[in-house]
Amino acid sequence: MKSRPLGSTGYRISEIGFGGWGLGGEMWRGVDDAEGRKALREAVEQGITFFDTALAYGAGHSERVIGETLKDDIRANRAVVATKIPPQNREWPGKASYKLGDVFPAKYIATSTEQSLKNLSMEALHVQQLHVWNDVWLSDPDWDASYKQIVRLKEEGKVLHWGISINDHAPETALRILADPLFETAQVIYNVYDRSPEKALFALARQKPLGIIVRVPFDEGALTGQIKANTVFPAGDWRGEYFAGDRKAEAERRGQALAKVLDDQVETLPELALRFCLSAPEVSTVIPGMRRPAHVRQNALASTKGALPAGMLAKLKPHAWDKNWYS
Ligand SMILES: NC(=O)c1ccc[n+]([C@@H]2O[C@H](COP(=O)([O-])OP(=O)(O)OC[C@H]3O[C@@H](n4cnc5c(N)ncnc54)[C@H](OP(=O)(O)O)[C@@H]3O)[C@@H](O)[C@H]2O)c1
Repeated sequence: MKSRPLGSTGYRISEIGFGGWGLGGEMWRGVDDAEGRKALREAVEQGITFFDTALAYGAGHSERVIGETLKDDIRANRAVVATKIPPQNREWPGKASYKLGDVFPAKYIATSTEQSLKNLSMEALHVQQLHVWNDVWLSDPDWDASYKQIVRLKEEGKVLHWGISINDHAPETALRILADPLFETAQVIYNVYDRSPEKALFALARQKPLGIIVRVPFDEGALTGQIKANTVFPAGDWRGEYFAGDRKAEAERRGQALAKVLDDQVETLPELALRFCLSAPEVSTVIPGMRRPAHVRQNALASTKGALPAGMLAKLKPHAWDKNWYS
């Protein structure tokens, strides 16, 4: 497993990180806790050192599972954990029409951080991220107090580094806050279909430097080739909505078209999807969501194989796909 620097934080972290949303269990169904814990142990075995979670994932369950399972690795500085403060109004994405005081009021930033420290059994969060953001909030009268609270948590040593988790498919909504040196990481959707970070965010990343954490590298599974027109998700699983109507058929069609570029150098769609993300030098780590040891082993191999050849990257350009199925 190769490592890369995480912006200015001083951490060197594994190129393939661990996406911990599924460990929350509430929105992702069909895999039990025991399997998720095995996946985490396998990740450590495979040299994965970066773990992303959030207070919102299963109301703290993902944080607790990570805190318990990786306790020794966290204490021995073998694991870097990033978590997130959910918007107080529990609305994703962070819309310009919301008041900052309804999303990230100062006191709530502190209580949410205390809760994550407790769930993770940590004395200091390695990376604490705002789970949504909209640059219009920089001019909100309440921002000054919230900003002071963010600075205070860092001064108190409860948060070592701050980051922003950017709204889905909209990196341009966080460029202004990310210019502030206090915010050292940006979590963003970047995959074969959505290449929007290439427009301006990557330029900022090079300049700063900013740690880029790539989320949703598989477009919630569409880029693994596993979503078919007849796929049935477990009852209550949020993907039933994400892939509603004819979207599963469209995901299958596009996955089949993409599979035509595979060759003896790049053998599977998951490998292609991850190596695409790793081909951008601006990227610090890619965090596929994983709940099964077999997926962890397969995904870790992408780092060994490295960036895609230029010819393959050129073939991927026409597969870019502008959509927002979260909204
Ligand atoms: N707003 C935000 O801040 C936000 C939003 C979304 C995601 N995230 C973060 O980003 C992470 C990744 O995003 P995501 O989990 O939503 O989507 P994703 O990584 O695009 O896709 C996850 C899906 O891919 C499957 N998968 C993983 N490896 C595979 C492989 N080798 N072969 C076939 N299927 C494979 C997973 O299966 P299994 O689960 O069964 O292993 C899961 O169904 C999250 O876990 C979370 O940490 C943050």
